[in-house]
Amino acid sequence: MIFSFLFCFFVRSASGDAIFECPITFITAESGPIGVIPSNRVGLSVIPAKYDCAYHFLIYPGWALHFSISTHYDQLLGDNITFTDNLGVVHLLPTPNQHIDEWSSAPTAILHIRTLSNTSQMFAIYEFVNVEKKYQQVIIPTGEYLALENMKNRYFTFSSKANDRVALNIAVKNTQDYDTLLEFMFVYDGGDVRNCQMVGRLSNFLRNKKISTSSNVTILNFYDGKSPSYLIANDWSKVSVFSKYKAILTSKNQQTTGELFDASDQGAAYTWICSDCNNFYWTVLKFHKSTTTVSKAYIELRSLSPTHNTSALLNYSVSATLDRNFPQLIPSRMFTMINHYSGIAVTLDTSTSKAMTQRWLRPYDGRRGTIFSPSIWDPKTPPNFSFQFEDDNHKFMFGVNVKEVRIAAAGESLTIKTGPTASDNFSYKEFVSDSTDFWTRRESKGNFMQIAYDGLDRRSMAIVSFDMKQINSGTRDNPLHSIFVSIVCSCFTFHNVY
Ligand SMILES: *[C@@H]1O[C@H](CO)[C@@H](O)[C@H](O)[C@H]1NC(C)=O
Ligand SMILES: *[C@@H]1O[C@H](CO)[C@@H](O)[C@H](O)[C@H]1NC(C)=O
Ligand SMILES: *[C@@H]1O[C@H](CO)[C@@H](O)[C@H](O)[C@H]1NC(C)=O
Ligand SMILES: *[C@@H]1O[C@H](CO)[C@@H](O)[C@H](O)[C@H]1NC(C)=O
Ligand SMILES: *[C@@H]1O[C@H](CO)[C@@H](O)[C@H](O)[C@H]1NC(C)=O
Ligand SMILES: *[C@@H]1O[C@H](CO)[C@@H](O)[C@H](O)[C@H]1NC(C)=O
Ligand SMILES: *[C@@H]1O[C@H](CO)[C@@H](O)[C@H](O)[C@H]1NC(C)=O
Repeated sequence: MIFSFLFCFFVRSASGDAIFECPITFITAESGPIGVIPSNRVGLSVIPAKYDCAYHFLIYPGWALHFSISTHYDQLLGDNITFTDNLGVVHLLPTPNQHIDEWSSAPTAILHIRTLSNTSQMFAIYEFVNVEKKYQQVIIPTGEYLALENMKNRYFTFSSKANDRVALNIAVKNTQDYDTLLEFMFVYDGGDVRNCQMVGRLSNFLRNKKISTSSNVTILNFYDGKSPSYLIANDWSKVSVFSKYKAILTSKNQQTTGELFDASDQGAAYTWICSDCNNFYWTVLKFHKSTTTVSKAYIELRSLSPTHNTSALLNYSVSATLDRNFPQLIPSRMFTMINHYSGIAVTLDTSTSKAMTQRWLRPYDGRRGTIFSPSIWDPKTPPNFSFQFEDDNHKFMFGVNVKEVRIAAAGESLTIKTGPTASDNFSYKEFVSDSTDFWTRRESKGNFMQIAYDGLDRRSMAIVSFDMKQINSGTRDNPLHSIFVSIVCSCFTFHNVY
């Protein structure tokens, strides 16, 4: 008899009649940072039939509420469990057998359990989390980007030095349509999580307003999901001048093709970001006749993002010889392309292969291009580069214009050599030039052209444009001829004058 009584008692308890009470006051961190529902239980518990209880939580500023919920229930029986976050968004917990995490920011959240049946089960652990204690804040200036996979235990505040509003844009890889993980990131309109309001999930924020009300915006990912997307923040006044603004994300060894269109004078701007490389080879630019206003169309390339407010480093308009500008190397992890009055097709290649390097360094008749110090595109990078354009089978007239040079440290130099191939083992006389010589156009015949900047001072830079015209096209040079050519080979080295 005693045994049967005990058994009975156990069943009653597990059925949960007694333990699914319904609190009538707000649950706060004061009654303990951690709690369970139903109280005093561990593990799934049967919810009584016709149970209807909303657990109200009050979350203090700077805190968040984390729910870890296990359910085993059937909506078809008329049972519902919902979680309402601080935004008032109702999340219906999935059925039949689930474990799910939910988060809410301040000020309130509700867990609402409703049943008709007597078979549904659930168990939940909740924890009030002091965000500033648990997560570390990282401040990022506007104009920079953030990889959303790097969010573990940290939250990020984009801060405008210009005291401007902050505009957020997502850069999603071209291989990917939409990033569902953006649903799980919280956006606070301001520079901290205590005094500023959580105004939306990142997905919604990007769909709707995209702009903060002050000079800060903060992104926090409670859910630890590693999004492959990047977020770029700009000063609002710098991107609002364009008819359209977008960011494009790529990574090394990718070929990214874009169809870009804009019919306005202010232009549509696209910031290209390479997540893990510092070189873009621009290989294709085509103006589409039907969507281009030939007399007005031009494509500008500026360094970094619109926030940096840099001037154009490259500028292309419609021309019969447009193709001869490509490939063009852009030695940067990020740059902004602005498209005016045109429909264009562009291809940017981030290949690190030898084939791509060779393609960039192969001379051809009529070719033009510009060589830049990486420091021009990004002041955080050094100025050095060294390129040798070479074709052992053909001779060219190489033309070189030094457009800009700044040699900021002693011992640094810009060297330009053109002449017959090095394999012929001629020695090159190098000479030091004074600054007035920088601006002279150099022309010389040969099989190769070498342009190099030697130095690491980030304030230094050089911009050199070049052109090439093939001589005796089609015929292979004989070695004797090369000797004559060597006489006109010319080498210049510009040294700083300190
Ligand atoms: C559960 O939700 C459904 C639809 O959302 C609703 O029709 C039903 O009445 C709800 N059940 C309870 C017990 O509230
Ligand atoms: C659950 O409900 C069913 C039908 O409404 C009833 O037959 C059964 O006895 C109930 N079980 C418990 C444990 O209350
Ligand atoms: C922006 O956030 C930073 C860091 O929290 C803070 O120092 C600064 O005062 C904030 N500025 C504004 C205008 O809120
Ligand atoms: C941005 O650059 C343009 C042109 O170089 C200049 O006129 C303007 O004053 C700059 N704006 C800011 C805010 O620096
Ligand atoms: C680029 O070229 C176009 C047309 O040739 C010209 O109108 C425009 O001012 C140029 N832009 C810059 C920044 O040089
Ligand atoms: C510049 O110099 C550094 C250090 O010597 C080197 O690692 C880097 O590859 C050079 N950059 C270029 C573009 O040649
Ligand atoms: C290249 O020239 C150097 C001296 O200038 C000489 O020692 C060397 O043997 C030459 N190499 C060839 C392959 O001719």
